[in-house]
Amino acid sequence: MHASPPPPDEPGIKLREHSYDGIQEYDQRLPNWWLYTLYGAIVFWVAYWFVYMIAGLVPADGAKIDAEMAKIAAVKMASSLDVANDDKFWEMSRNPVFVDAGKQTFNSLCIPCHLPSMRGKAEIPTAVGPDLTDYAWLHGGTPKEIYVTVSKGVIAKGMVAWEPVLGQKKTAEVVAYVLSRHQPGETITVQPPQ
Ligand code: HEC
Repeated sequence: MHASPPPPDEPGIKLREHSYDGIQEYDQRLPNWWLYTLYGAIVFWVAYWFVYMIAGLVPADGAKIDAEMAKIAAVKMASSLDVANDDKFWEMSRNPVFVDAGKQTFNSLCIPCHLPSMRGKAEIPTAVGPDLTDYAWLHGGTPKEIYVTVSKGVIAKGMVAWEPVLGQKKTAEVVAYVLSRHQPGETITVQPPQ
């Protein structure tokens, strides 16, 4: 049996009753540095959980990777453009980087006639351009047909031939933006203009 430990320096601290294998403990308050570390960790945990998991204020790692992958995919798409391939166009229309570039072109050049909503005459009857979000097309609604309409224009009706102005990449981007409002396989109707 060991001797009892010496009494603590500070008054009021008691030796606890129990003894395990001769080891006894003081009934000490945990030191402040230790408690503040614990409280700090709890506060940090709650704030972290809120910012990342609930509010989404900071993009999570998965989202950052997706964004980087989309950039890489967009560069690949642009370097191997195949404007006669519907599947490729649908892929482009699901790439946020590609679509966003197209949106910028659309917003600077196409909205005077088709409106920011793309809904043209369907939203404001006096608008010059037709609705690009519905399923009824004047000049064909498959991706490559839309590409041809945008690149060659409909001069007689006031729709500019855009490919000479924009080049192939930007034309493809803006078509991808139009397609981002559509689904592959949706039922389309084609009614040539009178
Ligand atoms: C000056 C007005 C004007 C501008 C600017 C304009 N368009 Fe048009 N667009 C039209 C008109 C008018 C038509 C309908 C042509 C017709 O009646 O045959 C049309 C038709 C279209 C069609 C075919 C719709 C269908 O139903 O087949 C697409 C796609 C299109 N525009 C995309 C664009 C894009 C993309 C831009 C910007 C790069 C753009 N337009 C800019 C006036 C415009």
